[in-house]
Amino acid sequence: MTKIHVACAEKSGASKFLPDLFRCAALFLLLVLVSHAPALAQATQYPNVPPVLLGAAWYPEQWPESQWDTDLDRMAACHIHLVRVAEFAWSAMEPEEGKYDFAWLDHAIEKAARHHIVVVLGTPTAAPPAWLTTKYPETLRVDEDGKRAEHGNRQQFSFTDPKYRELARGVAEQMATRYGHNPNVVGWQLDNEYADPDFGPSAQTQFHAWLQKKYGSIAELNGLWTTTYWSQTYDTFDEIPVRASKENPALELDWKHFVSDTWKSYSQNQIDGIRPYADPRQFVTTNTMGWFEGFDHYVVYSNLDIASWDDYIREPVYDPALNGATHDLDRGFKHKNFWVMETEPAFVNWRKTNNPLDKGQIRETAWQAVGHGADAVEYWQWRSALNGQEQYHGTLVGPDGLPVPAYAEIQQVGAEFEKAGAALSGTTPHSQAAILENYDSRWAIDFQRHAAAFDPVEQLISFYRPLRQMTQAVDVIAPDAPLDEYKLVEAPALNLLSQAVARHLIDYVNHGGNLVLGPRSGMKDSYNALYTDRQPGPLAGLLGAHVEEYYALENPVPVSGEIGSGTSQVWAEFLTPSDAQTHVVMRYGPSNGWLDGQPAVVTRKVGKGSITYVGGWLDDGLMNKLTVS
Ligand code: GLA
Ligand code: GLA
Repeated sequence: MTKIHVACAEKSGASKFLPDLFRCAALFLLLVLVSHAPALAQATQYPNVPPVLLGAAWYPEQWPESQWDTDLDRMAACHIHLVRVAEFAWSAMEPEEGKYDFAWLDHAIEKAARHHIVVVLGTPTAAPPAWLTTKYPETLRVDEDGKRAEHGNRQQFSFTDPKYRELARGVAEQMATRYGHNPNVVGWQLDNEYADPDFGPSAQTQFHAWLQKKYGSIAELNGLWTTTYWSQTYDTFDEIPVRASKENPALELDWKHFVSDTWKSYSQNQIDGIRPYADPRQFVTTNTMGWFEGFDHYVVYSNLDIASWDDYIREPVYDPALNGATHDLDRGFKHKNFWVMETEPAFVNWRKTNNPLDKGQIRETAWQAVGHGADAVEYWQWRSALNGQEQYHGTLVGPDGLPVPAYAEIQQVGAEFEKAGAALSGTTPHSQAAILENYDSRWAIDFQRHAAAFDPVEQLISFYRPLRQMTQAVDVIAPDAPLDEYKLVEAPALNLLSQAVARHLIDYVNHGGNLVLGPRSGMKDSYNALYTDRQPGPLAGLLGAHVEEYYALENPVPVSGEIGSGTSQVWAEFLTPSDAQTHVVMRYGPSNGWLDGQPAVVTRKVGKGSITYVGGWLDDGLMNKLTVS
């Protein structure tokens, strides 16, 4: 038995959750008995620490060294075996250009080791020092409206600027030279939460060169972008605007592709500084932000060893399905277990009202992460800085260094991780159902939602929620990922469908797979241009039906058929079957006249497989019934 699916039922609310925790505990016990699993799923196993790590973000540079041992004693008592350090400490490590001070970091790593605490080192490039941006102002980012960033916040750098890359690589290389063989350093986090692109001179030049490389000739670009529209026709690549919004949707899509490739090369620049000096056992990752839409995460993770993400509850009320889907998304980036590099110790400081998780939910969310394949759960942050922009953020200890109420609950999690570690080692979730996530499609819909409420992530969750309840395990993967292992594949809104992905999906169905497409699927090609075949474009033949028309909805419309009745909200497409084998499962009821009595869901059997098209955004009740059917 090499891989075991570990899933615990997810319920919001601590009181409901406790019986499930006991169920999990029983499952763990069982796993201890039956599993002789080698550590396959885990990135690495480290000596002297448990296989599932509890950790915290620690900023020793903010405190006198005389206090470090006290902090580390309290961490050890909390069963913390991991700290991430240095990701904003550039001015402490390189106080002057080319002059490095690593003595403090040597001591911090050494003291952590003595407490059985391993270290992830962050490269400090999300927070350049004042000397750097003063001396090299071209390294400061320019926003879409032409305004240059200033020192004093973070992420003020240009991700394209050659000088910034040189300096970033320099500090990463110095760190790796010093710590690449340090047995207590287990991995590297590049930068911190890649986010804002640059629109300045270096980005402009590079975007134009990127377009030239992709299209070869301006005529090719003009054709694929349909630039005859509004006299957009370009004579040279240099004429193309460098903007992310209010542009031709083809340009907007390519801007996102350029940004994704640029973050990847931004990583590669630092990887090239680190890898030659680092033991292969040290992983390299960067911490990303869940469903953040700024770049294609499959591209950005392609040159990194593991995925890691910062799990913050963005809504006033914790939604286990949404959070669980985000873990599954992150597991899908590398098709293996991932790390929660940051999560909140009860509350954050950046929402409108920073209400805490309920008592018990810190533990619930920690175990949820592990149930979905996290090998580490790390709290941000250990102790608040006395000043700086985040004074109100949740911590484990107060400014006095003494535990705050959340500490005890996290300590319990740590004790449980230590106990369950051996049983969980080498395990990873397994699923027979997958949901396809596609950044191109999300972007294309977001550029032109047509119905403001059509949030592609929310719409994906409407597919995920019932599927998760039914199967207790869902993979969220890219459309070009291998699909053979899945009985069911759902594409909630595969708006951009390349010919290659269409062939991949046709193969899947022809080999006995069951494919379910949601509304807006198969509308556009890889250049964000409309297909001349009606939706689902290259899959219309296999479906034996096409979308006749789409309608944005002000109010829900009735839908009914053989699986029951309910409504479609936000969006409704009606379908016209063209094949005798295509079966109408649901129809719209009386509503705006256009939709009355028209097919809303159709399906066609293909050998042992099937293809189904769902034309509306069905309510939860109906989605449940459809998923079960
Ligand atoms: C205006 C413009 C047209 C077109 C329509 C769309 O009337 O003149 O070019 O953009 O709006 O509704
Ligand atoms: C992000 C950052 C951290 C910190 C937290 C606060 O995740 O990576 O540095 O600012 O937010 O929630």
